Amino acid sequence: MCGIIGYCGPKPAGPILIQGLRRLEYRGYDSAGIGVLSDGDVAVFKKKGKINNLAEVVPEDLPGTCGIGHTRWATHGVVNDANAHPHADATGKIVIVHNGIIENYTALREKLEEDGCVFASDTDSEVIAHLLASLYEGNLEKTMAQALTLLQGTYGIVALHADEPDTIVGARNGSPLVLGIGDDEMFLASDVTAIVAHTKQVVYIEDGEIISITPSTYHLTDQRRNTVDKKIEFISWELEEIEKDGYAHFMEKEIFEQPDSILRAMQGRIDHEYATSHLGGLNMSRAELLNTERVKIIAAGTSFHAGLVAANLIESIARIPCTAELASELRYRNPIVERNTVYFAVSQSGETADTLYAMRELQRKGARVLGICNVVGATIPRESDGGVYIHSGPEIAVASTKAFTSQLTAFYLFALLIARMRDMSYEGGKEFVQALESIPEHIRSMLSRVDTIRSLAKKYAGVADFLFLGRGLNYPVALEGALKLKEISYIHAEGYSAAEIKHGPIALINEQTPSLFLVPDDALRDKVLSNMKEVKARRGPVIAVCVDGDRDVAEVADDVIEIPRASTVIYPFLMVVPLQLFSYYTALELGRNVDQPRNLAKSVTVE
Ligand code: AGP
Repeated sequence: MCGIIGYCGPKPAGPILIQGLRRLEYRGYDSAGIGVLSDGDVAVFKKKGKINNLAEVVPEDLPGTCGIGHTRWATHGVVNDANAHPHADATGKIVIVHNGIIENYTALREKLEEDGCVFASDTDSEVIAHLLASLYEGNLEKTMAQALTLLQGTYGIVALHADEPDTIVGARNGSPLVLGIGDDEMFLASDVTAIVAHTKQVVYIEDGEIISITPSTYHLTDQRRNTVDKKIEFISWELEEIEKDGYAHFMEKEIFEQPDSILRAMQGRIDHEYATSHLGGLNMSRAELLNTERVKIIAAGTSFHAGLVAANLIESIARIPCTAELASELRYRNPIVERNTVYFAVSQSGETADTLYAMRELQRKGARVLGICNVVGATIPRESDGGVYIHSGPEIAVASTKAFTSQLTAFYLFALLIARMRDMSYEGGKEFVQALESIPEHIRSMLSRVDTIRSLAKKYAGVADFLFLGRGLNYPVALEGALKLKEISYIHAEGYSAAEIKHGPIALINEQTPSLFLVPDDALRDKVLSNMKEVKARRGPVIAVCVDGDRDVAEVADDVIEIPRASTVIYPFLMVVPLQLFSYYTALELGRNVDQPRNLAKSVTVE
């Protein structure tokens, strides 16, 4: 959701904040603002729209070396200049930025208004500024501690006071916050992408903690306000990884990175001698793995789709029951936690509120929850009982692509591990490993022939509705294809099991509604082919993604996207790449903002 940055040091704060906000823009891009402290005043600039709009109104020679900034993803209050952050108290001396939702803001606002406060915005966040002002007695850090006892909800807050030069105070509950330690300069940010250009030394702030920084010092206190001394960690990402590197968009770059990112997810984890995998981060003994009777996966969005593929695979090759469920639903249905069950919380960002809270609920009931995450040091991997980092490198485009295939890779390695402890023979293991290791090369060959997909995107960009249909392991890939298309092109798209269309969706078929079928040469191919014919019989345009040279499919379909013939188990990897490209080129055709589609944000830290 919203992006936050704070800077305290010897350099002019304005350009550092603006540059940090540009790197955070993927977290929210409704509006942006900064507040910079100078000579006992805080100069605030905020603007609806992209960071460029803000940059235009911030003077180049803005004085001040301590300031805070924010990119907004609106929750309370429409998108306009007034609702953009920072927010200030009536005197303009206390200025805050906030990520999260203050759930008791109505009650707090009423009370503050009774006491004479005049509000300038419709946001929940503004109450924080007025509340701090009403409690302030000369020490912002202490005031923050008092204010937190009155705030309910989720927050990453960063604040400054005009009377306390060179000081920024931050607090966290449920929304990420990280301290960056530089040479005589300190940073606070909602994620490391904002500060990696300046420092790689970080301390992750936990829920309940308050952090106070000056250019050369930091002071961290826990929930009881005792000083804490935490380990400094190092960011392994390079600055180049968060730049476009010659590609037109981050999404394009991330799609094309997949041969490498999948390889990174596998590296050092395959045991060729015993045709199995090593996943040391699971923190589980062989006996515990052997005693595992069930696997349950929770996630949201694209990560949920990876979980659905994994559930099908794990059950079929490892022969243990496995299901995937939306984290947002699990949390509120009082789930039964069974013995000998391993849960996976899957999240690219590791900060998704729905997944994080569901994980905490499961842990509270005594479950072991493992994380499958990309962002090192994010909340889910920190709080999980073990897990697998997918090492995709930063994923900046809002539409997730390379994280999906790397999440799959992690699950395939886990399935192999468990399967080899049960029914899968050494020979079976070897075949599986071979198939897995062939994925990067297959994807590389597909990425060298994208022209068909680009011209199909041109042909179909004008349609209003689209169906994506697949079966078995590729049914969740159809869901993912539909999600990708709708989120970046805004074309209405639905994913279904190809078998399901006759139970209702076929009513939608007409000459204007194309169906994209995933038809690999697996056990369900002929059944999907029949479903394709049913759609053709009703004059529905059909695009098929099938293996090279599948004539039967080509005869029925209007258009064909070919993928290499491979082991059936890896088709989800090969099927999803054309779908990612199809939505990317369609969005380009329609002139959409590919990396920052409307209404979305990369990391969804509110429920
Ligand atoms: C993917 O393209 C989406 N933007 C979205 O569905 C995303 O996958 C979902 O919000 C979950 O995010 P996570 O993997 O960071 O938890």
